[in-house]
Amino acid sequence: MPGDVMGQVFRQLFDSIDEGVIVTDPEWKIIFYNSEMAGLEALVSEHVVGKYLNEVYDAVTLESSEHLRVVLTREPVLEKRKSYFTNKGKEVTIVANTFPVIEDNQVVAVYSVCKDITKFKELLTKTMQLHDQIGLEGQEHRSVNGTRYTFESIVSASSAMQNLIVSAKKAALADGFILVFGETGTGKELLVQGIHNHSVRKHEPFVAINCAAIPETLLESILFGTTKGAFTGAVESKGLFQQAGDGTLFLDELNCMSIALQAKLLRVMQEKMVRRVGGTMEIPVRCRVISSTNVDPWELVSKGSLRKDLFYRLAVMTLFIPPLKDRKEDIEALIQYFLNRYQRIYGLDKVQIGAELKDRFLRYLWPGNVRELEHIVESAMNMLDGRKVITVDHLPHYLRAKFLSQDGTFSEFYKMGSSTLAHVLREVEKQVLWEALKSHSGNITKAAESIGIARQNLQYRMKKFGMHNS
Ligand SMILES: Nc1ncnc2c1ncn2[C@@H]1O[C@H](COP(=O)(O)OP(=O)(O)OP(=O)(O)O)[C@@H](O)[C@H]1O
Ligand SMILES: [Mg+2]
Repeated sequence: MPGDVMGQVFRQLFDSIDEGVIVTDPEWKIIFYNSEMAGLEALVSEHVVGKYLNEVYDAVTLESSEHLRVVLTREPVLEKRKSYFTNKGKEVTIVANTFPVIEDNQVVAVYSVCKDITKFKELLTKTMQLHDQIGLEGQEHRSVNGTRYTFESIVSASSAMQNLIVSAKKAALADGFILVFGETGTGKELLVQGIHNHSVRKHEPFVAINCAAIPETLLESILFGTTKGAFTGAVESKGLFQQAGDGTLFLDELNCMSIALQAKLLRVMQEKMVRRVGGTMEIPVRCRVISSTNVDPWELVSKGSLRKDLFYRLAVMTLFIPPLKDRKEDIEALIQYFLNRYQRIYGLDKVQIGAELKDRFLRYLWPGNVRELEHIVESAMNMLDGRKVITVDHLPHYLRAKFLSQDGTFSEFYKMGSSTLAHVLREVEKQVLWEALKSHSGNITKAAESIGIARQNLQYRMKKFGMHNS
């Protein structure tokens, strides 16, 4: 392919990506500037390309410009956070990675790839302000500690959950660091808040952060705080360790924290001191740390995505919340709890779950655990249309399809492992009948025809299984 075509391809390619790209030559003249960068800085590519950096940006110094530095040092500058004002007066914050291009031992070009994190920074500042406020309010009104749940909020009937709550209460009072693990939607947040509210720290703040929801570069500032000028635009802010004070800091989804930040966290845990980003002062850490993972932490350690030494620090006590499918007694109790709750909210009463559906719920594997069950009960309430009994017809589409599909049903029974062949065959037969009736809108003659049996035969089987064609 001729060079100019390739040039065109690359230009177009770089204009279609979400990251800003700027390339300069060794004299610091801008030779490429993509559309994302232009959007970010409110500039026009054609006005910028061919100009020197100091003609486009104010105060270009070795300190402020990575391009200048990289030409001189030949070393890349990574993850550099910068905040500045565009010529339209808008403040933008970016994270830039800047690299030299070296040929015959000479720097022939320097390029930066920049990510716009303005929104995240605004969010960070707001979060920090909010936490500061909550912290202050917490001092004044000691009952406001930032939690919604206690152990009483945990609905449970299974011995597994009841034993867990007994252990969690002991752990709450023992005051060591705790690691909670359980699949998504099993109630980790509930349990952790329960622990805080059962501990001697209950009048102190409860501060939670989801490590998966915050970009890596900001997580460090949020946890440890920043000093003014730590990076351009940085404000003086308390980190969450400090905001949690004598309370609890909940590090949710710890498994999503990078290994590099895990190392910094470990240092804080060992020294019981935290230093703000850009600061030198050591601030004592007094809070109790509770963390959570949605995967088996030992597995994470053996895979190398959770540092072993950090794991031992944070998991003085581990609590495992079993998935809902392994505590079937809780399913009934939770159904009743969510039925009561949502019928109150939707102004309904005496709503029940049909026996057939309840039976299926008890056999379903609940990949989304309690959250999925809650969501299903709530959405079924919306579909009831004045009826009092929730049936498979009121379920969200994905679940209905699953319940009605032969495949899904078979694998569910198969996985159960406890069924006899006769039971499995009976259940599969029921599913086939249901499906045939459904797809022929309840017309028995057509449904029977579609599965190759006589009308009377279908009627007989429906009667045998107690199926009503409504
Ligand atoms: N035992 C329970 N009793 C009552 N409600 C529960 C129970 N377990 C979970 N819930 C409810 O289910 C939803 C999910 O719970 P929670 O947010 O604590 O789960 P999680 O394990 O933190 O999930 P994720 O890993 O996705 O963050 C919440 O609305 C919570 O109130
Ligand atoms: Mg959670």
